Amino acid sequence: MAKVVVTGGAGFIGSHIVDKLLARNHEVHVIDDLSSGSRDNLAHASTVTLHVLDIRSQEAKEAVERLSPDFVVHAAAQVSVRISMDQPALDTELNVTGLVNILSGLKDRKGSHVVFLSSGGAIYGEQVAFPAKEDHPIKPESVYGLSKRVGEEYLEFWSRTWGVTSTSLRLSNVYGPRQNPHGEAGVVAIFCERLLANKSITVNGTGKQTRDFVYVEDVAEAVGRAVDTRCIGEFNIGTSKETTVTHLAEELRALTAPTAEILYSEAKPGEQMRSCIDNSAAKEKLSWSPKVDFGQGLRHTVAWYGTKK
Ligand SMILES: NC(=O)c1ccc[n+]([C@@H]2O[C@H](COP(=O)([O-])OP(=O)(O)OC[C@H]3O[C@@H](n4cnc5c(N)ncnc54)[C@H](O)[C@@H]3O)[C@@H](O)[C@H]2O)c1
Repeated sequence: MAKVVVTGGAGFIGSHIVDKLLARNHEVHVIDDLSSGSRDNLAHASTVTLHVLDIRSQEAKEAVERLSPDFVVHAAAQVSVRISMDQPALDTELNVTGLVNILSGLKDRKGSHVVFLSSGGAIYGEQVAFPAKEDHPIKPESVYGLSKRVGEEYLEFWSRTWGVTSTSLRLSNVYGPRQNPHGEAGVVAIFCERLLANKSITVNGTGKQTRDFVYVEDVAEAVGRAVDTRCIGEFNIGTSKETTVTHLAEELRALTAPTAEILYSEAKPGEQMRSCIDNSAAKEKLSWSPKVDFGQGLRHTVAWYGTKK
C-alpha cells in the first residue's frame, strides 16, 4: 500500500482515478479547490481525505511536504482550450505555476513519483502523422497545450535534478460519467445533457473534425498502471481511432433523442482539425490498452446522465 496525493481528485477524471487507487488499497489524499470538481464525485469514497486547497497556495505546498507521499497524481488544471486562448496568463498560472508549487513540496522527497495528466489531444497541434506517436513534432495550437508541454519539461527537470521521477500520460479526448456538462470542455457531456432534455445540439465547425475518444475508466486504469510500474516518460493514452464530431453527435442522438436537431456554427480558435494518438508505447511499457469500445462507452455515459436528470 502506498500513500498517494491526487490533485484535482474531486473532478471528472480525478475522481475515477481515486476509485482505481482505492481498489488497489492505496491511502488516498485529494487536494482540490472544488472550482469545477465537487464533493459529490467523492461521496462514495469514504476513506479518502479531502484537503480543500488551491494548488497555487503555500498551504497546498506545505500539505504535500507534510503528507510526504510516495506518489502524486497531478490532475488539477484549467482544462478549457478556449479559456486558455482568452486568458493565457490564467492558464499558465494554474497549469504551470500550480504544478511547480506542488512539485516544490516534493523537492526533498527523492524516490517519490509523479503521474501527470498531460494532453495528447493538445500538445501535438495539427498532426502530420496519424495516429501520432510520442515522438511526433510538438506544436501546440493553444496555450493550454503549451502549458501541458511545459509541465512535462518541469517534470523532466525535477527527475534529473531532485530524483523525483514521473510518468506523463498524454490523454486524448476523455469522456464518461461525472464530466461537467456546463464547462467549456467535454463535448460528449454537453451533447448528452442537451439531448436528454430533447434540445438541439450545436457542432462548432464543419463536424468533420476528428477526435480520439477514450473512456474515463480506461484512463483511470492507465494511471493505476503508471503507479504500479513507476514507468518513466511520456505515454499516449487513447484508442488510436479517429471519430468525427458529426459521427459522435449522430450516435448520441440515436441513443437519446432521435428527432433532435444537429446545428453547425463557426469553428473556435485553438481547436484542431484532426486528432488521434498512437497507444502502442503504453501497451508495451504500461501493459495498458483501452477496454471499453466507443458504443459501449457512450451507452454507459448516456445511462449515467439519464440518472442525473
Ligand atoms: N477531459 C479531457 O478530455 C482531458 C484530456 C487531456 C488531459 N486532461 C487533463 O486531465 C486533468 C483532469 O481534467 P478533467 O477533465 O477531469 O477536468 P475537471 O475540471 O473535472 O478536473 C479538474 C479538477 O481540478 C480542480 N482544480 C482546478 N483548479 C484548481 C486549483 N487551482 N487548485 C486545486 N484544484 C483545482 C477542479 O476543482 C477539478 O476538480 C486535467 O489536468 C486536464 O488537463 C483532460
